[in-house]
Amino acid sequence: MNYRHGYHAGNFADVFKHAILARVLTLMAAKDAPFRVIDTHAGAGRYDLDGEHAKKTGEAESGIHKLLANLPHGAALELLQPYLHAVKKFAPAYPGSPLIMQALTRTQDAMAFCELHPEEFSALEKSLGRDRRVKTLALDGWTALKSLLPPKERRGIVLIDPPYEDPAEFRRVADGIEEAMRRFATGVYLVWYPVKNRHDTDAAIRRIVRAAGKPALRLEFEIHRPQTDGPLVATGMLAINPPWKLKEECETLLPALRQSLASADRGAVLVEALD
Ligand SMILES: C[S@@+](CC[C@H](N)C(=O)[O-])C[C@H]1O[C@@H](n2cnc3c(N)ncnc32)[C@H](O)[C@@H]1O
Repeated sequence: MNYRHGYHAGNFADVFKHAILARVLTLMAAKDAPFRVIDTHAGAGRYDLDGEHAKKTGEAESGIHKLLANLPHGAALELLQPYLHAVKKFAPAYPGSPLIMQALTRTQDAMAFCELHPEEFSALEKSLGRDRRVKTLALDGWTALKSLLPPKERRGIVLIDPPYEDPAEFRRVADGIEEAMRRFATGVYLVWYPVKNRHDTDAAIRRIVRAAGKPALRLEFEIHRPQTDGPLVATGMLAINPPWKLKEECETLLPALRQSLASADRGAVLVEALD
């Protein structure tokens, strides 16, 4: 396990992933009934954008810093507010998915975070502080899809955000989703993925959607055209059992994010319902 999210925190892929996560949390919180969030690959929670790791890559410059300098207007800005609220709450540090979840859930909700890297795990515990709604677990995220499901609330969001260091990771996602569906078929699942090669991505998405056997929303975001062995410039999120307004919201939000983050004549977004 070499991956350290601190090198990538606040980059364009984090902005995309976290802005969508914040919408899903907001839509789930529109009903009073409690829900649980499970983050299978949680990371450290809080990232110092002036720290050694972030400075080495400078990725936040074309991500959160660029967004804050070029905020969209109108309806898209409204949709971004929950995410911006979380970002501002922890500034100048950048909040990872656990802190965004903690900021956008209510007293009746619960959270479980899995992280296997020992240093990231202790940073995560520190980032979250004392919160009786939270459980931090040094547990394998794939095991969590068996042992933590179904949540007792029977409403929940499962974020699956592995590092994809290993080419087998997409297969693990499909197997994990299939397993999870047997236990919690009504959950909202958010699977983040890198887009390196269009053909391989299409095949991986087909496999995951087949394993889920549920309606899904495929969301993708590209800031430049991907090149073989080039840097990561395109990313995606598959939302399985998406809240019903998510598609419409992403049709407004993602083109606006593209305007803010992609160079003027480049970039693309995809919002596609897969049933
Ligand atoms: C992409 S990062 C997570 C970022 C985080 N979800 C966010 O959005 O802020 C992936 C994390 O998964 C951890 N990890 C890798 N394999 C794991 C596993 N099998 N179970 C749990 N965590 C794992 C890594 O140490 C890393 O911190």
